[in-house]
Parts: sequence; structure tokens; C-alpha cells
Amino acid sequence: MKLPSPRGPLSRAVTEVLSSPVGGEVGDLAPLTRRALEHSVDLLADDDVQLTLYVMYELFYRGFEGVDDDWEWSPDLLAARRLIELALEQHLSDRVAVPEGVAPARAAVAEALFALTAPTPGPSVARYVAKRATLEQVRELLVQRSVYQLKEADPHTWAIPRLVGRPKAALVEIQADEYGGGDPERMHCELFARTMRGAALDAEYGAYIEQIPAVTLAGVNVMSLFGLHRRWRGATAGHLAAFEMTSSLPNRLYGDGFRRHGFGQDTTEYFDEHVEADAVHEQIAGRDLAGALVQQEPELLHDVLFGAATCLYLDEVVGEHLLSAWGAGVSSLRTA
Ligand SMILES: [Fe+2]
Ligand SMILES: [Fe+2]
Repeated sequence: MKLPSPRGPLSRAVTEVLSSPVGGEVGDLAPLTRRALEHSVDLLADDDVQLTLYVMYELFYRGFEGVDDDWEWSPDLLAARRLIELALEQHLSDRVAVPEGVAPARAAVAEALFALTAPTPGPSVARYVAKRATLEQVRELLVQRSVYQLKEADPHTWAIPRLVGRPKAALVEIQADEYGGGDPERMHCELFARTMRGAALDAEYGAYIEQIPAVTLAGVNVMSLFGLHRRWRGATAGHLAAFEMTSSLPNRLYGDGFRRHGFGQDTTEYFDEHVEADAVHEQIAGRDLAGALVQQEPELLHDVLFGAATCLYLDEVVGEHLLSAWGAGVSSLRTA
């Protein structure tokens, strides 16, 4: 993908650095980063900060056209990234409520995760999509989700070498499914690309980055934050468990929304696949990944629950953004 356009002074400085050859003058990004963080009113909705972090993380996935691969491990970029990560971790731990009184045992953790992720009656994007969303809004949903779904599973895969025994086997089992079990056509990112093409959208990785708002980037950034740090392996396991546990039902509703607009099975297959697959994945993720990890390393209990609760929190923030935009009759995407 191409380097996105800057959204403020920090992302401008970082994209300028990345456009130059490695070894050139970077300048001290730390003061600029501190200033951006100090001036940030709502970190999750801060376009300049979230885009900067997204760009820094993308160097660890597929990189950018014309950007030297060697920037990935630049100490200057990593130092600035660390400042953003610390602020983001603080922002989340101040706001995310973690369940208390859970025993550090496999079954108790799984049970706590299922309780935490149980469906709630309030407004939901999935129900809105099933019943009311316009054609334009269901297509917009795909654009919003493309920023993660076109690299579906990748952020959690970082945790594999950091686990051993049952949790590792469980994560590999889930991810093997996400990656199509050896069939590139069955990879979930490819199924999603087909859904996008079916809705006459560009399925090229990063095609819509300019239109993706900060809150959506924040959701993906948090997955990368957890995935790229070994110390957050518990949060990755909890995040994935919550993600799988809140997937099956909404995906049926998303599929209904697309069927309501006349789309066929080629377009809804991504959603249909997740109704089935994630009913299995949630069991593996709850018991054999998250539960068994806490059984192995009881000190990770808080992180596992924090990861799960963070997943739900971010889902809620993004959901509110979508529903309030759509309720007001405007697009949830960024306009130039
Ligand atoms: Fe999937
Ligand atoms: Fe899944």
C-alpha cells in the first residue's frame, strides 16, 4: 500500500522520515510525539496519533511502497512509538472495566469470558445492518472493516512463538482455520476480499486508508500493540477469545443485511463462514487458549481479562461512531 497522507504534525513528520532513505537524518521525534499526546483530547479519536501508530505498525506487516524495509527497527521510530503505546495503554486501563474475583483456573476463566461477552440488548451495529442499513451503509461497513479484515488473524499470530503447550496448540488451530487450512481461496482475508468485490468495492490492501477514521484505526492498533509485545501475550489471548465469542451472532446479522439488499452467496460467504467457524473458535479460544494460558501462568489472569474487555470496549467505541453517524444521516468515513 501507499503511505497515507498525514493528518497532523506528528504523522507529517513520520511519513516524511519514512519517505527518506534509512540512515538519513531522522531528527528527534520524541518532543513532537509528546506534544501531540499532550494536546490530544481523545486519544482513540485522534487522527494524527492513531494514523502515526498505524503507520509505525504497518512497517511490521507489509510495509509501504517506496519505503525502505529497514525502517522497521529504527530506534528513533521505536522510541516515539513507545511513547504513544504508553499513552494508549494508560488511556485504556483508565477506561476498561476488568471483571474481578475470577479464579485463575481454565474453566473459571472461560466462564468469565463467556459471561463478559454475552449479548447485550442495547443498540448494535449488527442489528442495525440486518434491519435498517441502506446499501451505502452496508458497503461502508465493509470499508470500515477492511482495515483489519484484509489482514484478518495477523495481529494475533504474533503471539504464537510466545506460547507453549496447550495454549499454543489452540492458537495455531484457530489461526490455521483463519488462514484457510492450506487453501488460499479459503483464507478469511480472501473471503472478505470477495465480499468487497461483490459489493463493487476495491479489495486492494489499504485502498481506503485515507477514509478510515481514527477510532477504527485505534481498534487495529490495539491488536498490533498486544500482538507485538510478548508481555501482552495474555491480552492477545483474551482479545482473540472475546473477538471469537462476539462474532458468530453478529455475522449472521451482517449476512442478513447483505441478503436484504439482494446480494448472493458469493458476497455473504464471509459472514456465513464465520457463523459456523466462530462458534467453534470461541470454545477453543475460551478454554484451550485463554483458560489454559491462565492455568499455566496465573499471573496473566488480569491481562487476559483486560484484553477481552478492551476488545469489547473498542467494539463499543467504533459501534457508537458508526451508529451516531448513520443516525444523523452522514457517512462514518472521513471525507477529504
Ligand atoms: Fe475469521
Ligand atoms: Fe474465527
